[in-house]
Parts: sequence; C-alpha cells; structure tokens
Amino acid sequence: MRHNTRNPSLKKLLLGWLLGPLLGLLSVASVGAFYIARTSATDAYDKALLDPIQALSQHIDTVNNKPVLNMSPEALHSLFTDTYDSLYYQLATSEGIVFGGTLHLPIPLHLASKPLFYNASINGRDVRVAAMRIQPDDMQNYVVIQIAETLTKRDRNLYEILAIMIAPALLMVFAAVALVWFGINRGLTPLQKLQAEIAARSLRDLRPVPEIQAPEEVRPVIVSLNTLLSNLAAAIDGQQRFLANAAHQLRTPLAGLQTQVEVALRNDMPVELRHIFEQLLIATQRAAHLANQLLTLARAEPGALHLMAMQQLDLAKLIEEVIAQWLNRANIKHIDLGFEIETANLWGDPLLIGELIANLIDNAIRYTPKDGYVTVRCYQNDNKATLEVEDNGIGIPEPQREKVLERFYRVDGSPGNGCGLGLAIVQEITKLHEAELIISTPEHGRGTRIIVHFPTKIN
Ligand SMILES: Nc1ncnc2c1ncn2[C@@H]1O[C@H](COP(=O)(O)OP(=O)(O)OP(=O)(O)O)[C@@H](O)[C@H]1O
Ligand SMILES: [Mg+2]
Repeated sequence: MRHNTRNPSLKKLLLGWLLGPLLGLLSVASVGAFYIARTSATDAYDKALLDPIQALSQHIDTVNNKPVLNMSPEALHSLFTDTYDSLYYQLATSEGIVFGGTLHLPIPLHLASKPLFYNASINGRDVRVAAMRIQPDDMQNYVVIQIAETLTKRDRNLYEILAIMIAPALLMVFAAVALVWFGINRGLTPLQKLQAEIAARSLRDLRPVPEIQAPEEVRPVIVSLNTLLSNLAAAIDGQQRFLANAAHQLRTPLAGLQTQVEVALRNDMPVELRHIFEQLLIATQRAAHLANQLLTLARAEPGALHLMAMQQLDLAKLIEEVIAQWLNRANIKHIDLGFEIETANLWGDPLLIGELIANLIDNAIRYTPKDGYVTVRCYQNDNKATLEVEDNGIGIPEPQREKVLERFYRVDGSPGNGCGLGLAIVQEITKLHEAELIISTPEHGRGTRIIVHFPTKIN
C-alpha cells in the first residue's frame, strides 16, 4: 500500500484537532489561575507590611515641635527581623524631612490616608514598599512612614504557586493525550476491521461489504462502495456474456465451413487447388480452436462464480474421462500417454476441471517431440488434491514461466498453431477453485511438469 505523506493520518488529524485547543485552553486557564493566585498572595504580604507601620506610628513623639521616633534599638531590631527578607523603614515629615530610618526613598506624591504599595529598588535589589500617612494624636502635621521589604518570601511563594498550578496541568495534558489516543484507537477499530475485510478479498470476490459492523459515519462510504462493486460485477458479467455469445456464435459457422472444406477435399482437384483447400482447412481448424478457447476462457473468468456447478469430484475419474479423448493424438505422435491415479477428492466444477486437464494434456502432447512420454498423475495429501501433468518435451524456459500464463502469449518458435490461451484458461480455473498452480521441471531435468494443488473443500 502506498502512503501519501500529503494526507495526514486520521489519528494525527484528530489528535491535532483535539490536543491543540486542549493545550491552549489549559495554558490560558493555568496562566489565569496563576495571576489570580499571585495577586491574592501579594495582597496578603502587602497587608502584613502594615503591622510594622502601625507599630512605628505608636512610637512617634513630638520634641521641640519636631517629630522623633521614640523606640529602643532592641524593639526596632525585633520589629524588623524576618526569617527570609530584609526590612527597611523611613520616617519623614509632611514637608519631606527625613527624621528616622535606614532607607532613602523619595516620598510618594499625592499620598492619601489609604496605604500605598509599590515596587522599587534599593542598592540594586528589588523591594516592595508600603507607604502610609499617619497623624499621631498630639501632632498637627502628619508623618509619612515607608517600609521596604525584599522579595525572597514573595518569589518563593511564586515558585510554589507555579509548581502547584503546572504539575496538575501537565498531568492533565498527559492524561488527555492518553485518553484521546486510546479513544481514537477504539474509534478506529471498526474502520480497521473494514479495511482488513476488504484487503482479504480476492479479485473475484465482488460481494457487497457487510454494513452491520460499520460505524454510522462510515456507512455512506460502504453503501457507495457496494454500489460500485455491484456495478462492476454487472459490467464484468455483461462483458463475459458478450464474449461467450460471440465465441458461441462463431463456432457454428466455423464448424460448417470445416465440414464443407473436408467434403471438398474428398474430390479430385488440381494440386494447386488442393494445396489451397488444405491451407483453408488448417486456418478453419485454427479459428474454431480459437473460438473454443475464447468460450472456455469466458466461462472461467472472474465473476463466473455464480455460473459454476460446484460439486464433490474425484480427479481420478475426470482424468480417465479426459485422457480417452487424447489417446489417438498421442498414438499418431508415438507419445506414450499414461496415467498414475489415486482417488483425489475436491470441490469443483466438472466441466471447468475437465477443460483444465484437457489444456494441460494438449500442451504436453503438442510440445513433446515424437517418441516422448506424457504422464498424468493425481493423488490426495492432507487436505489437498493434487494434479500433475508431466512430459519430457521442449520445456518452458525458467524466465518465461510467468509469461506463458498471460493471454495470447506463446514462447517464440513454439511448434503448432495454438493461440496462447490454454495456460491462461488453466490459470483462471485454478484461481476460481482457489488452487495453486506451479510450473516446474521433472526430476530428470527435461520437459515440463505442471502441478495444481486443489483444496479439498472451498469455504
Ligand atoms: N508442456 C509444455 N512444454 C513446453 N512448452 C509449453 C508447454 N505448455 C505450454 N508451453 C508454452 O507455453 C505457451 C503458452 O501455452 P498455452 O497453452 O497458453 O498456449 P498455446 O498452447 O500456444 O495455445 P492454446 O493452448 O490456446 O491452443 C505455449 O505456446 C508454449 O510455448
Ligand atoms: Mg496450449
């Protein structure tokens, strides 16, 4: 079977269509969930920064009309110690005069009473800053408190969220791939069965494909295929009938002509005229033979299955019947025509098997020189009935053994006036009976041995 790379497989197509959007949806969902999670985490960390602001604001006193921070270094230290992050603070008056802290950040403009959170950087490190305006009870003016915190905790948290989000998403993608793959395989099983059913068919089998096992979507294909098959069968049938009719119609006038020529030859006539009549007889015999062979071929062609009268046959009996008609010709050529037969049962059409045997014996006698021998054998082995026709004639050269089965093919320089249809007929009949045809050489190395293995019973 040829595989066209431009037509992707149904599996890949379905997988692509399902997985593409699925992955897209999953990534959008993950990114969305990630941002939501990060925002709420940021909010929580931001709110935590308000605690030290509150604590600082309670320790701001006024000295000489100026605000000062009144807090012990120990208290400050414990307020600004964190397991993960460094914390900094800055205290400033409303005029922007810094009066405490370890931080030097500009004071945000338009700072209202609500806390403000923003990102900044100190000494090259990214920090999150909370700024708030506070008015201590005994003061007229407000002070601005700013707390900055490095991002270690937040970054850690970010990675955690990422891991929590991405691991299940990836797992889901893998599960989806596996499920889709499994589903597609299951879904395609009926198609594969159908394919196997069609592939297993022989050329002769033009029966409709059963629709029952086919999935709904494939049914129209099968219906069309069946229509095609039945049209094809009808066309083959018509062609065959035409060929059979034409050959049959030709036979009667040719037989009449042959009789007339034979009658004429019994009369006295000038030598030249006799010669012409003799040539005429040969040509007429040849034409009649051709018509006969064509008729047999038409009967043995594929599609003829329904015309066959299949029955239980004994090869031995058939050989005895057929061989009787050839004894005379063998005698004339001094050919020793003999048989070695045992009962060999097969399921077949007696007329067609008779034609097959006759064509093989005809060839053997025709292509074996004077004083040769022809032996016809049959025997039964396991579930095979075997026919052998062996001669010690000119033989069929190895490279031509396929070719001689073709219609109208004759080996160059073959004697006699055959038309090249005999072995084609043999081959067709062999196929109709699901038998095996082998062309070989007899053990002593000269001549031809044709073997046909018939199955004892065709199912
Ligand atoms: N037993 C044989 N020995 C040698 N050559 C053979 C033998 N049988 C067939 N052949 C060769 O194979 C060719 C094809 O045989 P086939 O029986 O198909 O045609 P044919 O004998 O020429 O004509 P037809 O059988 O139609 O009268 C023959 O022309 C001959 O060359
Ligand atoms: Mg022949």
